[in-house]
Amino acid sequence: MELEFDFSEFGRSEAPLCFDNDKRQEVFDYLCNATGKGSDFLGWRDLPCSVSEEEIDKIKKAAALVRKKADVLVVIGIGGSYLGAKAVISALKPYFDFAKHPHHKCEVVYAGCNLSQDYVADLIEYLKHKEYCLCVISKSGTTTEPAIAFRLLRAELEKKYGKLEAKDRIIAITDRQKGALRQESQENGYQTFEIRDDVGGRFSVLTPVGLLPAAVAGVNIEEMLSGARQMRDRLINDQSENNPAYRYAAIRNSLYSQGKKIEAIVAYEPCLEYFIAWWQQLFGESEGKQSKGLFPVGLNNTTDLHSLGQYVQQGERILFETVLKVAESRSQISIPTDANDLDGLNYLTKYSLESINHIAQTATSKAHKEGGVPQIGITIPRLDACSIGGLIYFFEFACALSAYLLGVNPFDQPGVEDYKRNMFDLLGKNKK
Ligand code: PA5
Repeated sequence: MELEFDFSEFGRSEAPLCFDNDKRQEVFDYLCNATGKGSDFLGWRDLPCSVSEEEIDKIKKAAALVRKKADVLVVIGIGGSYLGAKAVISALKPYFDFAKHPHHKCEVVYAGCNLSQDYVADLIEYLKHKEYCLCVISKSGTTTEPAIAFRLLRAELEKKYGKLEAKDRIIAITDRQKGALRQESQENGYQTFEIRDDVGGRFSVLTPVGLLPAAVAGVNIEEMLSGARQMRDRLINDQSENNPAYRYAAIRNSLYSQGKKIEAIVAYEPCLEYFIAWWQQLFGESEGKQSKGLFPVGLNNTTDLHSLGQYVQQGERILFETVLKVAESRSQISIPTDANDLDGLNYLTKYSLESINHIAQTATSKAHKEGGVPQIGITIPRLDACSIGGLIYFFEFACALSAYLLGVNPFDQPGVEDYKRNMFDLLGKNKK
């Protein structure tokens, strides 16, 4: 079973953009023939078929070595340099690690994605009792948060293992030539992996940026790439209005032009929390510019039905939802019969917990639709590496088309620089 998309709520009148042939041709041309804004950053488009066997082999060997010598891998990065890895690993690992599970072999934790002193202090304390390696990821090689975390954690690593062994416990993933991290890696002899020039941070999950940490966590990266490849074949060879990525892109733009301001992506599996965070960065950073763009938010149901659900049902009508449904769980749990039935739940004994979750989704969708919240549905057959690879590629492709429909460059992020400039001024960087 492959990923399934439900756009049944949107016909010609609700989604007029889908049916505009000229617009569709134009945005496909931008993306597939590299004639649009930011076309220097289209390397992600062919990654599922262009990652060589040699590179996969190198990643797997490096991952195996980390798994052999470490209980913990600290991935140091921010934005696109950690969210993809965290999205994939969180979606695929068990909720609670069992000693026998392959994922248990090496835990992946994250640093450099905030400036919290207590976070770093607690991490350093945690690592004191562990064998660990560092994987520092920065395309530019100059981002402040990961650079600070790397300096602090490298000092701890060197204190624990000595300089010589520490260098063999550090992997750097960065630009081929540019940036402080490349220079530092060369001078200190760290193992390195490259981020291609034509792949931006938030589109880099199918490069070593996402693949190496995922492999360390026990994810089958070949299956992940194969899922992405199947999705690529499906999307790149169909430039009709039925292309699901185009349809998704066009519907969200139609809804935006009809006054919707927020797209909520909704999951009913808590392990998709970081997939949602990855998706938020992908769409938020690609589209939110020139005073335009839908604000991407994430909802984790049924948890959020007891908090934000009230707003979705009856608050301002500025929202639509994209609901991620997982068709099949990894496990089976039925509701047991209780002789006394004091909790009144015996009527549920014919259901599995999974089917109750599915019924909650159907019930919520119905209520939200009736409450004026349009919905797009995406069904993931099961949470495995292949489906996650496919879903990643689907959203990347859709995001590029969607940003082009909106009239913005999907691949730059000029606004991210503003806070950095202010921070450097306040910190006195470059002051004589
Ligand atoms: O998508 C992007 O380009 C950004 O989110 C970057 O990934 C993020 O700012 C980190 O940049 P770098 O990898 O250069 O440290």
